[in-house]
Amino acid sequence: MTDILNHGALNLAMAIGYQNRIFDVMEELDRPATVTEIAGAAGLDGRYLKEWLGIMAMGKIIDLSVTATGENAYFLPPAHAAFLTRSAGSNNLGVYTQEIPLLTACAMEAVNNGFTTGDGISFSQYPRFQEFMGQLADAKHRQILIQHFLPSVDNGKLVQRLKKGIRVCDLGCGQGLALNLMAEAFPESTFVGIDNHEEAVRTAQKEARRKGLANVDYLVRDAAKINGEKAFYARFDYVCAFDAIHDQSHPLDALKGIRWMLAHSGLFSMVDIKAGSDHKDNLDHPMGPFLYTVSLMHCMPIGLNGNGAGLGMMWGRELALNMLSQAGFEQVEVLEMEHDGFNLHYLCRVP
Ligand SMILES: C[S@@+](CC[C@H](N)C(=O)[O-])C[C@H]1O[C@@H](n2cnc3c(N)ncnc32)[C@H](O)[C@@H]1O
Repeated sequence: MTDILNHGALNLAMAIGYQNRIFDVMEELDRPATVTEIAGAAGLDGRYLKEWLGIMAMGKIIDLSVTATGENAYFLPPAHAAFLTRSAGSNNLGVYTQEIPLLTACAMEAVNNGFTTGDGISFSQYPRFQEFMGQLADAKHRQILIQHFLPSVDNGKLVQRLKKGIRVCDLGCGQGLALNLMAEAFPESTFVGIDNHEEAVRTAQKEARRKGLANVDYLVRDAAKINGEKAFYARFDYVCAFDAIHDQSHPLDALKGIRWMLAHSGLFSMVDIKAGSDHKDNLDHPMGPFLYTVSLMHCMPIGLNGNGAGLGMMWGRELALNMLSQAGFEQVEVLEMEHDGFNLHYLCRVP
């Protein structure tokens, strides 16, 4: 119990430190420094900083030593910085310390109420979490998508097709980070992003314009309402959905829509959380409590909206395969990804 209380407290304090860029500043200092020196370098209040450094020293995140003049000096070891700071790129786990505190600030009361009412929670309840998802998308895609993920699809054949020119859709594209990167890398192909969140789509469009991308378009659409729409029939050669199926209210309808949108010889990459569908299958999951908590505080209640399925983030492989099959995907490979331990890649082929 003392470990649980201490680690919960550390997570909260680390999130505050992350937001105030203290780890980044200490990494740059790269030496033991006093409270006054760190406060000066970070432009932060010394009294708050001192209390925070106490927490980090107690938690052994930061080393504590004493200077020749008897002052405390604090040092972030490079081995810790390598997993904590913004410069750690795809090894940056520090960014995730913000997740539980942010979700608590957005939805603690609403989730408590949900235990009696069973109601979903509106997306608009999570404004700051949206911004955080933008940061996560950056950590997830910027150094990975073009360099590692796309070349891994269909043994490199997808990239060859992208270079020649195909039609691509990113379903649940959010703020468009992945799609804009793809559109920039493959100018011969055309790209459409679909999301039902208007503000996210506006951000995506703005960024596409800023980059001067002429081969990308964005649509505000409910993915559950695409199946059967003439304008979308066989419209794409490749569809991807990155972490965008499990929190939909009607995921089966969305998957049927994707099947509908795919042309002959089309491919669908569903990248979604790596887990089993039953609690028993996840007892050894290294981040089980964390991921189930994120699901309870966000994915599941979001997915319950509009009489929704409320799958939750840990819907897992068995249920995912079952739904893909119900949606009409007969050839599905489940692939582990070297660069991403959180997710599985369900690669679906259309004859
Ligand atoms: C976890 S975010 C992932 C965003 C992006 N694919 C990425 O990798 O960063 C899930 C996205 O799915 C979108 N979404 C949820 N339900 C949807 C629906 N019914 N139709 C279209 N998009 C939906 C959300 O608005 C959100 O942008």
